[in-house]
This record gives sequence, structure tokens and C-alpha cells, in this order.
Amino acid sequence: MNQDDLKDAVAAAALDEIRPLLGQNIIIGVGTGSTANRFIDQLAGLRSDFRGAVASSEATAARLKGHGIDTFELNEAGTLPVYIDGADEVNAHFHMIKGGGAALTREKVVAACSERFVCIADASKRVERLGDFPLPIEVIPMARSYVARELVKLGADPVYREGVVTDNGNQILDCYEFMIDDPVAMEARLNAIVGIVTNGLFAARGADVLLLGTDRGVERST
Ligand code: 5RP
Repeated sequence: MNQDDLKDAVAAAALDEIRPLLGQNIIIGVGTGSTANRFIDQLAGLRSDFRGAVASSEATAARLKGHGIDTFELNEAGTLPVYIDGADEVNAHFHMIKGGGAALTREKVVAACSERFVCIADASKRVERLGDFPLPIEVIPMARSYVARELVKLGADPVYREGVVTDNGNQILDCYEFMIDDPVAMEARLNAIVGIVTNGLFAARGADVLLLGTDRGVERST
């Protein structure tokens, strides 16, 4: 199976995760990226069985609406029963690096408001130690250079993702050469740097369920 087949397989497995909740007028949290897109495309077939979705990005909102799925503002939706999203890396503790698609802030907020985070990923995303994928950091534009200097002090090599403006009007620094031994501590450390809106470590609130697409099939772990 190629990577696209694996993404389709985990998207189908994510439908099985939400199937017990269907018919209960639920609002589902939906992530961003190519794997999440495949989930959205499959979710469309069930759109009459749930109320709608909260999107973690403008791109996801557009795709949901394109399929006739109603979208809701998080402020009106309250706590969501489930959030489905991909990851750039995921470790054995279900800590993740996210933000390759620059949607990390809204993803983290929607995840925080969700009872269950179901991470859908192909096997290439599974790592022993987070950090080969450059860690994305969303910054307020005026703070970009200051934050970059602070990140260098932590041992990272931050690179401005030129031409990218997030849905929140901010910018992204990608941290290269930044292997992370303690994701929970580093997430908190980064949160303490003024000017950082969100860092791409999803560790304090990691995934609850991992659906990993492998050549042997989808492995489900909790
Ligand atoms: C977007 C994200 C995505 O979940 C992450 O980049 C994975 O994307 P893909 O499924 O395309 O590999 O965090 O900000």
C-alpha cells in the first residue's frame, strides 16, 4: 500500500470510531491536512447522521461546507465528544508534533475542547523521539525575531516559513535541529516565551487514540 492508501485506511477507521456516536446530534471536531481531508471526504457519506463540525482551519471549513456538512463556531458548540486529526510525528506516549499545515493554534484549541482526540496517521509519522520534523511555532509578527533568538538559546535552528500567514494573521517559525527528549516540559517552556502564540508540541494534551496505517492494516492503540 502506498501512503495515500494508508491515509484512506486510517480515515475509514476514524469513521468506525465515531459510528457509535452517530444519531445523537453531535458536533465533531475536524483537523487539517491531507489525512484529515480524506476523513472529511468519507465523513460526507454520513452527514445526515450528525449535526455538523467545528473546523480547525479555514481550509477544513471550506472542504466540510463543500460536502454540505454544516460548520459551527467553537464558541457555540461547547465541548465536543471527539476530535479527529492527523500529525506530523507521534511517539509512543501519543505526544505529537503538529502544524506542518500551519493550523496548529486552532487545532490545539479544538483539541482542548474535545473529550477524545483520535490521531490518524500513516506509519511514517511514528517516531521514537520527536524532532526530526521541524517543530512549527506560531508567532505574533512583531515578535518573530525576538522569539527566534530565544529559540536559538534553547538549541533550535528556527527558520521563518516565508509567505505563510496563519488563519489568525500570524507567522510560523520552523525549528530545525531540535530533538525533544521531554515533550511535556518543552511544550510548557515554549509556552512561556512571550510572542509565541502556540507551539506545535501536542504533549500536555496528546492523543487518546492512535489509528496508525501500516502495511499490516490499521493498528489501533489507546
Ligand atoms: C496541520 C497539521 C496536520 O495534522 C499535519 O501537518 C499532518 O498533515 P498530513 O495529514 O497532511 O500529513 O498539523 O497543521
